[in-house]
Amino acid sequence: MKKMIMGVLLVCLTAMIAFAAAGPDKVDLSKWVDGKPSKKAVEFPHAFHQEKNECTECHMNADGGPLKSIKTGKEISFDGAIKPRKMSNDAHKEFCWECHQEKKVPGGKSCSKCH
Ligand code: HEC
Ligand code: HEC
Ligand code: HEC
Repeated sequence: MKKMIMGVLLVCLTAMIAFAAAGPDKVDLSKWVDGKPSKKAVEFPHAFHQEKNECTECHMNADGGPLKSIKTGKEISFDGAIKPRKMSNDAHKEFCWECHQEKKVPGGKSCSKCH
């Protein structure tokens, strides 16, 4: 009986870990823009980034949730926070560009990579 309970617990735990590691494959980040983007909306390859980085580089928690400013390490929300046509914005400066620069991603700041 004890063994069976332990077995069931183990299965639950494994399922929880598998679930926690999930997250969207791709995310349409046009929802970060307050209005209609002037550039092609960014489709963020999330699964790709999960393979190449630690969750907590971008999220406050290891299972996802709130995003983290790469620059300050503090919690940040981008939803509806980016003004259309504004090149100098937090998506670039606090997040995408900051890490791409740090990790020397080839072409990491070239417009067509993301837009
Ligand atoms: C390079 C940055 C980056 C990395 C690394 C990353 N994520 Fe994300 N993640 C994002 C972004 C950006 C979103 C979309 C946020 C939004 O919808 O505004 C997101 C969304 C999510 C979501 C869905 C929205 C939510 O918060 O519930 C989950 C779940 C998630 N990530 C889990 C993870 C897990 C688990 C890992 C590690 C295995 C991980 N992420 C690694 C950037 C990242
Ligand atoms: C924590 C670090 C980190 C952050 C934050 C980050 N990236 Fe990246 N990104 C990477 C790395 C590392 C690579 C390159 C990995 C490789 O080529 O091996 C990459 C590559 C890419 C690529 C190329 C994918 C491919 O198929 O070659 C795109 C597109 C991209 N990032 C978009 C974004 C966007 C958009 C954001 C912001 C929403 C973002 N990234 C934020 C680390 C990051
Ligand atoms: C590493 C990814 C990345 C690169 C490279 C990048 N951007 Fe962005 N940019 C974003 C994200 C993410 C947003 C906010 C979400 C969106 O617009 O879909 C954004 C938003 C914008 C916005 C405000 C929204 C709009 O479309 O009007 C402008 C303007 C912009 N970027 C211009 C540029 C220009 C010009 C370049 C090249 C010099 C560039 N971006 C390179 C990720 C990137």
